[in-house]
Amino acid sequence: MSKDNDEMVVTPWEVKGKIDYDRLIEEFGTQRIDKKLLDRIYKITGEKHFMLDRELFFSHRDLDWALKEYEKGNRFIIYTGRGPSGNVHIGHLVPWIFTKWWQEKFDTRLYFQLTNDEKFWFDQDLTFDKVKQLTYDNALDVIAVGFEPENTFIIQDIEHIDMMYEIAVQVAKKVTFSTARAVFGFENSMNIGGIFYPSMQAVPAFLHSWIYGKKTPCIIPCAIDQDPHWRITRDVAEKLGYYKPASIQNKFVPGLQEGGKMSSSNPMSAVYTTDTPKMARKKVMAAFTGGRDTADEQRKLGANPDICSVFKYYNFIFMPDDKELADIEKKCRGGEMLCGECKQILAPRIMKFLEEHQERREEAKERLHEFSAARLRDEIRR
Ligand code: TYM
Repeated sequence: MSKDNDEMVVTPWEVKGKIDYDRLIEEFGTQRIDKKLLDRIYKITGEKHFMLDRELFFSHRDLDWALKEYEKGNRFIIYTGRGPSGNVHIGHLVPWIFTKWWQEKFDTRLYFQLTNDEKFWFDQDLTFDKVKQLTYDNALDVIAVGFEPENTFIIQDIEHIDMMYEIAVQVAKKVTFSTARAVFGFENSMNIGGIFYPSMQAVPAFLHSWIYGKKTPCIIPCAIDQDPHWRITRDVAEKLGYYKPASIQNKFVPGLQEGGKMSSSNPMSAVYTTDTPKMARKKVMAAFTGGRDTADEQRKLGANPDICSVFKYYNFIFMPDDKELADIEKKCRGGEMLCGECKQILAPRIMKFLEEHQERREEAKERLHEFSAARLRDEIRR
């Protein structure tokens, strides 16, 4: 939890203000991904990833330990998730695209949690029917990312509670209300479902070890907002006979409008995977940039990509080629390229990306069973 004058707030349920990532590392007590760790990753993967090179994944817990174990032959599983409170936006895809790469490179099993219970408890306006619909819709997005079905298990908390409850009750017994309140800032008005919820988010970190009766390391790729959960999960892990989960954490893709906030009440602030390509184009063309008031001024003085949402979209997803990105940055700072032209490059990329994603999303409707965690029921040792 973090709050100060410039109003930085980073919790699993709210991210706002100007994000100071150095301060988050310090306050949350995570580690920076340094050169040594990066080299260790690349030694195994044999291939670089722009999200690591650009420090979009910048922080971790115990990743060095998990990789050492891997090198010794003690393979890890990976775990990530989504709270289905609305449509999926481009920012959510960042950890998932990276997770797909990680899954391929380490040839490992992925547990993907859809926390429909969480969203039902935390969002007062979400009806049970709506949250179930969103769980289905979001699962299609997860599948459309392209994970390997034989190695991917999508867990839906409400539907798959029979596989989760035995672990959740054990976690819940080890976490006091005062700890949960200190870590998550719960107020007296929080419903008791919400107070119990962190035990559910801990479960997939231990599920593999529990099912197969073998302590297995776990790495969690996600944005740093989820870190408070991993503090609790790590606190209880050894008490319950499991390894503490490791994590690898990314920065946030900002919103497309001034102020950088993505907000469901302002649909123009983010591109959603369900937007029509035409709508996405409209959002890009209306996006906030680091441009000057007039074209003349911009040609003379250049623009500022550091505050530009279009540049952030390139950096995070749509321009993985470093040379191309450096070229655009140079032209932007030097006033050679105006914002309109720059947007004209981004718009068709997003449109193509959406068309392809939506095609795979459509196909996913017939493929849900291939990814369902229900497949694990037969494997559980009781
Ligand atoms: P949720 O649905 O808020 O977010 C899903 C994933 O997206 C990350 N994220 C972002 N990444 C980049 N830019 C952004 N603007 C942005 N906004 C969100 C989140 O960190 C997350 O990785 N409680 C969780 C669901 C969950 C989970 C997990 C997430 C359950 N188990 C394990 C990560 C790992 C939630 O509501 O995420």
